[in-house]
Amino acid sequence: MTSRLMQAVLYEAYGGGSAALKHAEVPIPKPKTDEVLVKVEAVSLNPIDWKIQKGLIRPFFPRKFPHIPGTDVAGEVVEVGAGVKSLKAGDKVVTYLSHATGGGLAEYAVGKESVTVYRPPEVTAADGAALPVAALTAHQALTQVAGVKLDGSGPQSNILITAASGGVGHYAVQLAKLGNTHVTATCGARNIEFVKSLGADEVIDYRTPEGAALKSPSGKKYDAVVHCASGIPWSVFEPNLSPNGKVIDITPTPAALATFAFKKLTFSKKQLVPLLMSFKSENLSYLINLIKERKLKTVIDSRYPLSKAEDAWAKSMDGHATGKIIVEP
Ligand SMILES: NC(=O)c1ccc[n+]([C@@H]2O[C@H](COP(=O)([O-])OP(=O)(O)OC[C@H]3O[C@@H](n4cnc5c(N)ncnc54)[C@H](OP(=O)(O)O)[C@@H]3O)[C@@H](O)[C@H]2O)c1
Repeated sequence: MTSRLMQAVLYEAYGGGSAALKHAEVPIPKPKTDEVLVKVEAVSLNPIDWKIQKGLIRPFFPRKFPHIPGTDVAGEVVEVGAGVKSLKAGDKVVTYLSHATGGGLAEYAVGKESVTVYRPPEVTAADGAALPVAALTAHQALTQVAGVKLDGSGPQSNILITAASGGVGHYAVQLAKLGNTHVTATCGARNIEFVKSLGADEVIDYRTPEGAALKSPSGKKYDAVVHCASGIPWSVFEPNLSPNGKVIDITPTPAALATFAFKKLTFSKKQLVPLLMSFKSENLSYLINLIKERKLKTVIDSRYPLSKAEDAWAKSMDGHATGKIIVEP
């Protein structure tokens, strides 16, 4: 029997950046018993997508070539596996595909029912697709590690968010301000007003000496740092932390992991905490609801049709997005 075909964007080996992405016609995937087939309306890119292409997580990801990258998808369910109970054809959803298998940069994708959540009409496909990796990472860092209560009921705390203009950072600023926090943020000069508009109490340009030193203009010591930038050593954070301050590092280098181990072994009160996002569908539903209630917004850097996915890829690799990069089949 011949399979129905769809347009997809894939790569066949490690390396090569945007120039190595190929447009191909491939079979529309069939949902397994616990999966749904989604007609993709939007997919967002994350730096991890091109880091996997670079081979930074080999041999684990991708599981095989050719690989269709993209994990954060919003669309409409068009077919469900025999065991799927909570979703049906016609439902608008957001789903999170595994980094091992990918599949997002395509007209159709299959997602497991357990990682696919309903998306109400008030939440556009682009706003929903932007959420999984970036917003769940910001949410996890703030609620699980920094201990911020997003209903504002927790004790007052001072939070620093580095790279606050990026995909993770722009959600982190907004979520932190739902809690009882004072937010200091770093970004480039062109984004200072933007990051203030997200709610940050004070914003510093990372290219100035004060910004590079992470000094709070009002002299605050940070109880937690949601560290979304990279290349900042522990010695820069340390003098800016409160006595029990934590640096939550979402891109930990080997040096950061060594600091993490050293701080643990020496029972240091100031800690570095490496964080890897762990997907929870209830948290994704919570974030979708915040968007619906207009308590959280997705800021879109740029949108591309699937036919120009390589331009979106190059934009992400460039590292200067303000908010999220979206591809729309
Ligand atoms: N652990 C996890 O589970 C997890 C999850 C998500 C992301 N991550 C990682 O977290 C990092 C951030 O991800 P993202 O999606 O937010 O990236 P992104 O959207 O590509 O970040 C781009 C933004 O970062 C800003 N920026 C770059 N260097 C900066 C610096 N030193 N200080 C202040 N701002 C700086 C840029 O501003 P300019 O344009 O002004 O330079 C730009 O607005 C990536 O390394 C990603 O792989 C990890």
